[in-house]
Amino acid sequence: TSHIALPVGTALDRFIKRKQDDFPFASGELSQLLRDIALAGKIVDREIRRAGLSNLAGAFGTQNVQGEQQQKLDVVANVRFTRAFKNGGEVCAIISEEEEKIVDLANPNGRYIIAIDPLDGSSNIDVNVSIGTIFSIYRRISPVGGPVQEEDVLQRGTAQVAAGYILFSSSTMLVYTTGNGVNGFTYEPSLGEFFLSHQNMRIPEDGGIYSINEGSYHSFSEPVKQYIEECKERNLSARYIGSLVADFHRNLLKGGIYIYPATKKDKNGKLRLMYECNALAFIVEQAGGKATNGTERIMELTPEVIHERVPFFVGSTKMVNRVKELMQLQN
Ligand code: AHG
Ligand code: MN
Ligand code: MN
Ligand code: MN
Repeated sequence: TSHIALPVGTALDRFIKRKQDDFPFASGELSQLLRDIALAGKIVDREIRRAGLSNLAGAFGTQNVQGEQQQKLDVVANVRFTRAFKNGGEVCAIISEEEEKIVDLANPNGRYIIAIDPLDGSSNIDVNVSIGTIFSIYRRISPVGGPVQEEDVLQRGTAQVAAGYILFSSSTMLVYTTGNGVNGFTYEPSLGEFFLSHQNMRIPEDGGIYSINEGSYHSFSEPVKQYIEECKERNLSARYIGSLVADFHRNLLKGGIYIYPATKKDKNGKLRLMYECNALAFIVEQAGGKATNGTERIMELTPEVIHERVPFFVGSTKMVNRVKELMQLQN
């Protein structure tokens, strides 16, 4: 039955149930966890769309471990998702962009670990531009019920059991994979439900869009500069929203590459391996694309610390491969 695609418009709950029937691995717990994420996403969606009216826009007044000024919605989203995972009972620990250390939820039966960027694109909140949430789901390694270990949260991207993002844009979408393809759900706020709208998403092998902050052009490596020149010679479109989730989602649908390379300021780039790059790498690979740090597969990188940054090249296979060629020519 798994090859019988469900009709567009299928509610998320029904879709999860079907997948659970088709893939015994998708134990009830993972299905419940996906529902918990969808619920928190609905709550955050409502808060984002009212931020301007409920004094939730703007800075919170604190700095996070990244050295960034936390926005109120960074904190609100972090609280909402953490609470959903705590109450859901399936998650034993979380690593979050907004938390310096591992958050042990003290859920004794929790068998899952979450790595999350609760609000991606924070600089865009106050200017009413699309923002998102990015998450990865891992199984815990250490014995259930015992204290969470560092090995539980520092797993390679290849160990992900699921990954996804929520895009709060002209419409709100949940896009995720459990390792059997990528499916997109569009939120209908009047019904409070996500409905299947983008079935078995595939990224085109090549693309006509490149996304990079060329403001840092002078601090890019020669191969990156050369790749940008090639994009211009090919007359590609430059599109950069400043919210990774939004740039990634557009490139997933239309074909393209998103690049956040090493710069003089950030020698490993800005994006974080555990709660931005690994999740999008899993999704793009499941959709037929690629994700590297320039030369190596993102999902095979072994994390050393929870807030580790890596250079990030993600999108259409032909485009990511071309960057790798240019980088290898240089060495
Ligand atoms: P976050 O808001 O979660 O810290 O992530 C912001 C990231 C990503 O969303 C975006 O593509 C990138 O930062 C923009 O960085 P620059 O402003 O340096 O281009
Ligand atoms: Mn982010
Ligand atoms: Mn963030
Ligand atoms: Mn941030």
